[in-house]
Amino acid sequence: MRKPLIAGNWKMFKGLDEVEAFAAEFVKKVSDVTDRDMLICPPYIYIQTLTKAFEGTPVKVGSQNVFFEDQGAYTGEVSAPMLKSIGAHYAIIGHSERRQYFSETDETVNKRLFAALKAGLIPIVCVGERLEDREAGKTFDVVGTQVRQGLSGLDATQVKTLVIAYEPVWAIGTGKTATPQMAQEVHAFIRSDITALFGAERADGIRILYGGSVKGDNVDSLMEQTDIDGALVGGASLDAASFERIIRFKG
Ligand code: PGA
Repeated sequence: MRKPLIAGNWKMFKGLDEVEAFAAEFVKKVSDVTDRDMLICPPYIYIQTLTKAFEGTPVKVGSQNVFFEDQGAYTGEVSAPMLKSIGAHYAIIGHSERRQYFSETDETVNKRLFAALKAGLIPIVCVGERLEDREAGKTFDVVGTQVRQGLSGLDATQVKTLVIAYEPVWAIGTGKTATPQMAQEVHAFIRSDITALFGAERADGIRILYGGSVKGDNVDSLMEQTDIDGALVGGASLDAASFERIIRFKG
């Protein structure tokens, strides 16, 4: 049985006072939730603040990216051991905004993935097609390549904790969600790719999240799908009440 994971990706939003206010309100709302994992990935600078605020609660904290070297002269970068040392549990890797605006490739995704695993962070590897890929009938080609190249060189033991997020680029921040059936089709395809790479037992245990305009009014039907094991939520994770509604999905 895969335990659902509802993850918030705050992107580049919120000042410190807003982070503190969110944490105080959010903890009160969700501290009774135990049957699903909850995660917030704020900008790096708030990871410690949130880790402290969520101490003793079931809410975990993660990063939105991670650099692949442990240390060195890499101005502006943050490494996996550093993140681990301040209490991060997860790291988002290869988000489409990183691919689009910061030249991330499947190769850098792969390097970041190895670094995260080595430091004991749970990686959330993001994949997803652009609108032109979907319209050209290339969704499975594009997603399949991202999965195979992104996970290249890993063995079945290393993928034990792996989380994958399927986020169609055309659904991110646009209000256009993939229908539950469209999402399920790609999730099943990803799981079959993972089966081919690492075997059925591993594929069965890996959580595949859906991301792209997930809200309180669409989360239930998404979570009803067999291969959708959680959500990566951008905009709707910024407000404690709307994120709580998503966490309390019925499905
Ligand atoms: P959104 O973002 O929920 O605002 O569409 C999702 C994401 O980018 O992870």
